[in-house]
Amino acid sequence: MDRERIPQHVAIVMDGNGRWAKKRGQIRVMGHNAGMQALKEIVKHSDVLGVKYLTVYAFSTENWKRPKDEVSGIFKLLVKYVAQEIEELDANNVNVRILGDWSMLPKDARSAVTRALETTKDNTGLVFSIALNYGGRADIVMAARKLAREAAAGEIDPEDINEDSVSERLYTSGMPDPDLIIRTGGEYRLSNFLIWQAAYSELVVTDVLWPDFTPEEYEKAIEEFLKRDRRFGGVK
Ligand code: IPE
Ligand code: IPE
Ligand code: MG
Repeated sequence: MDRERIPQHVAIVMDGNGRWAKKRGQIRVMGHNAGMQALKEIVKHSDVLGVKYLTVYAFSTENWKRPKDEVSGIFKLLVKYVAQEIEELDANNVNVRILGDWSMLPKDARSAVTRALETTKDNTGLVFSIALNYGGRADIVMAARKLAREAAAGEIDPEDINEDSVSERLYTSGMPDPDLIIRTGGEYRLSNFLIWQAAYSELVVTDVLWPDFTPEEYEKAIEEFLKRDRRFGGVK
């Protein structure tokens, strides 16, 4: 693959865990567990491919609507993921970040998050962001609140607010917008993921369910991206 043209920032809507489990007569949490295994490989492969920023949608602000058991199962898997992977992530110079309000997570999940952030905070390799209790609208609301507070305090002039000042106050502050958004599970929607940041992202949807998303499928999605003609509103 042409390393020069590899997307700098890849974001993934990891969908289809429930359907994967259902197909096997298993409970949904088993699908999330299999999805976590798939994620491990995708993170490693991002480094191999030369992707600089990998952002994954792990839990949305809307996912609280799910049965309690499923929600707690997902957060238990987060704890397990950090326990199993953090040393290797750190050894590979991966910088873990969280997008979303994780103060609302169960205590053990918050401890795992704190450990992951602390351990990898000085790492300069792949920036791996996990969207947890993340919603694109909540992201924009939070930025609006920050701007309003700064304006009320006289720190900024409302007339000076521009696109960059909004971007700088989002959870993704300092990161480039995603070049490529991959959605597994076949649905053609963003489901409130990075809605501001996705303005000019290329979207690749695959029917493959997230637990079946292998590094090979990842490369296929990138190949698809490489065929796209990005015009950003201009002309060729
Ligand atoms: C995505 O898989 C993972 C989360 C939302 C946490 P789903 O659980 O939504 O899987 P499907 O869409 O029901 O198959
Ligand atoms: C999006 O998947 C959220 C995550 C992958 C974490 P959902 O399964 O929640 O999305 P909808 O409900 O199909 O839009
Ligand atoms: Mg789903």
